[in-house]
Amino acid sequence: MPKILDGKWVRGEILNELAPRVQKLTAAKRPPGLAVVLVGDNPASAIYVRNKVQACRELGIHSEKFTPPESVTTAELIALIQQLNARPDLDGILVQMPLPPQVDSQTVIAALSPEKDVDGFHPFNTGALVANRPGPRPCTPAGVIELLRRYGIPLRGKRAVVLGRSDIVGKPMAMMLLHQHATVTICHSNTQDLPGECLRADILVAAIGRAAFVRGSWIRPGATVIDVGINRVTDARLAADLLRNAPDRLAAFHKNGSTLVGDVHPSELEHVYAYTPVPGGVGPLTIAMLMANTVASAERRLGAD
Ligand code: GUN
Repeated sequence: MPKILDGKWVRGEILNELAPRVQKLTAAKRPPGLAVVLVGDNPASAIYVRNKVQACRELGIHSEKFTPPESVTTAELIALIQQLNARPDLDGILVQMPLPPQVDSQTVIAALSPEKDVDGFHPFNTGALVANRPGPRPCTPAGVIELLRRYGIPLRGKRAVVLGRSDIVGKPMAMMLLHQHATVTICHSNTQDLPGECLRADILVAAIGRAAFVRGSWIRPGATVIDVGINRVTDARLAADLLRNAPDRLAAFHKNGSTLVGDVHPSELEHVYAYTPVPGGVGPLTIAMLMANTVASAERRLGAD
């Protein structure tokens, strides 16, 4: 039976370790502070932001939400970020992605103070990642590394294949795996023989955003599968195939009319060594690592050890 890599358990461990650090800062100086910027009314972004604010509340981190309208300009967002950069009580600033098309995301990210960039997206922090120097790391790939470490899955000398080359997940994931001494391949929409590339992986990270795109026949027996995808499926015939080994979930689909699946076919994993389920695998880790980056930023800024 494959081992299930439980992201909720890892999230609990990370948050338990952060709690005394938050208490210490709060007693000595003030609670860590996080600004969350949510532009417009993208429903998925609104849910992510709500969960981030909720995690702050549970941990005792002060959070403030800013909600510029969908029509905001690049200049207006930069002006907001400059105000937040100057606020001494805020240690982190998160601008929820994606931004509307009229906004130049790269320019907005570059306006962040690098020391408050708890997403690790600023070019200064991207440079620190590439050079393997300390600094905030993008939360989702950092969570994956944390999960692999806490489950004792070795990376040194292993073949890691990353599907997807996004700035948020694929590229930083590949760099972090490289720094753990894996041999890393990045695949994308132009890659030839994707199944063949995947079959070489000891560690396969799927981050392409296409429901059940990766089939079991692409995965080497004994590999570890990290599924970063979160895709909503509403088609009943597709759901019946995807959930053919999960009757409880299929019953829930018929009740609710939708289900969440990852980028890997969830009923074709019998032969793997370990995998992250969707939901409950990588998802819970992103917010835990955001909390970790925010606490670390507060410690640096407040001079705690
Ligand atoms: N959108 C999807 N993932 C992320 C993330 O980790 N940070 C931000 N700011 N936006 C996202």
